[in-house]
Formats: sequence, C-alpha cells, structure tokens
Amino acid sequence: MAQYSDEVMDHFTNPRNVGEIEDADGVGEVGNPVCGDMMTFYVKVGEDERLEDVKFKTFGCGAAIAVSSMVSEMAKGKTVDEAMRISRDDVAKELGGLPKQKMHCSNLGADALHLAIEDYRSKKGN
Ligand code: FES
Repeated sequence: MAQYSDEVMDHFTNPRNVGEIEDADGVGEVGNPVCGDMMTFYVKVGEDERLEDVKFKTFGCGAAIAVSSMVSEMAKGKTVDEAMRISRDDVAKELGGLPKQKMHCSNLGADALHLAIEDYRSKKGN
C-alpha cells in the first residue's frame, strides 16, 4: 500500500477551505476519466488581483483531497499571476511528496485552480 507523508494525512483528515464560494469570480472544474475523480475550485479575486478566497469541492481519493486542501492554502493571498505558476510539483513538494502512482492527483489540483483563474480572466475580458 502507498505510504503517505504526515502532511498528506493531515490535509486529508482535516482539509482546509472545503466548500463553495457563491459569488465566485472564477470556477474551474477538472475530472480524471481514468479514476473518475472530480475537483472544482472557486476563487474570489480582490481589487489588487490577489486571491482573497479559494475554496474547493473534491470527489476523489485521499491524495486528491489533500492536494486540493494544500493548493487552496498555497493560492490564498497570492496574485493571480503567482497562483498560475503553482505547479503540480510544487504541490507535491509542499505535501512532503506523493507516491509515484498518486502524482496524477496533484495534477488535478493545479489544473482546477488554473482553470478557475482562466475563468476569472475570461469573464473580466482579458
Ligand atoms: S486516484 Fe484519482 S485523483 Fe487520486
């Protein structure tokens, strides 16, 4: 069985920022057709282009939930440009590593966040 780090177990058993932002400025949803897991990210952007709030809803494995929680923590307070540079490797590193067969789960988190920001940008018209 795959071994998870203490950080992964912490974020899996006590995920941060779970939920939905009703008046979100951007929403991004991704799914993995292989495992069937789904992740939705919501962002609220302040006037200085900073992410005031980030929330998520994830239907997925333990790693996907830990990844979502970590991504939301990493993105909060960053500018949208900075948040766009958060990569799956950054997320896995912050989580103290992920088993190789679970790396695709960290992909989902970064992708869903980036899609939410792209949604915000397209609504804003740039
Ligand atoms: S097994 Fe599908 S996201 Fe982890």
